[in-house]
Amino acid sequence: MPLARAWENLETLYEQGLAHTLGACNVSTAQLETVLATGTVRPALVQVERHPYQPQSDLVTFCHDRGIRVVAHSPLSAPGLLDEPVLSDIAQSRGLSPAGVVVAWNATQGVVPIPSSTKSAHVVSNLAAAGERLSEAEMARIDALRDPTFER
Ligand SMILES: NC(=O)c1ccc[n+]([C@@H]2O[C@H](COP(=O)([O-])OP(=O)(O)OC[C@H]3O[C@@H](n4cnc5c(N)ncnc54)[C@H](OP(=O)(O)O)[C@@H]3O)[C@@H](O)[C@H]2O)c1
Repeated sequence: MPLARAWENLETLYEQGLAHTLGACNVSTAQLETVLATGTVRPALVQVERHPYQPQSDLVTFCHDRGIRVVAHSPLSAPGLLDEPVLSDIAQSRGLSPAGVVVAWNATQGVVPIPSSTKSAHVVSNLAAAGERLSEAEMARIDALRDPTFER
């Protein structure tokens, strides 16, 4: 089914009051442009895989410029991410875990990360880290982890 038609079907649910907001998941900027150009109900949020290896910067800017909230799924589980020395270094200086630094990196850019965990201590520390904001220098160090070849 073409994306424009799928969105139109979702709009029907919205107009019937069966959905309070609509969102799109794992979309590119081009796909989002299609939704915005053909639809009448704007997406309230967009959920994509996002972490320092794959920061999705263009998509995040595109969404934020249009008032669309970005949600980062799979923020911690990219192989090797939590072992990155730069994350450990920032974590140590701030009394966070490397996972907490990734959460704070998202929050600093106005993105909502949704890490999952089976450990209550991780859930608590991840939530606390969402209240942290990193400095420009720390953000620049994490930006250097971007890997355009990243694939899961
Ligand atoms: N929309 C989509 O297409 C899509 C795709 C994938 C995932 N998702 C959603 O994204 C969310 C998260 O995805 P995910 O579970 O795949 O990946 P994730 O949150 O990136 O990673 C989960 C892993 O991180 C570990 N972890 C969590 N907090 C930690 C901490 N403070 N320190 C060290 N390790 C920590 C967890 O281990 P412990 O259990 O040991 O804490 C677990 O192994 C879920 O809600 C999922 O449904 C959406």
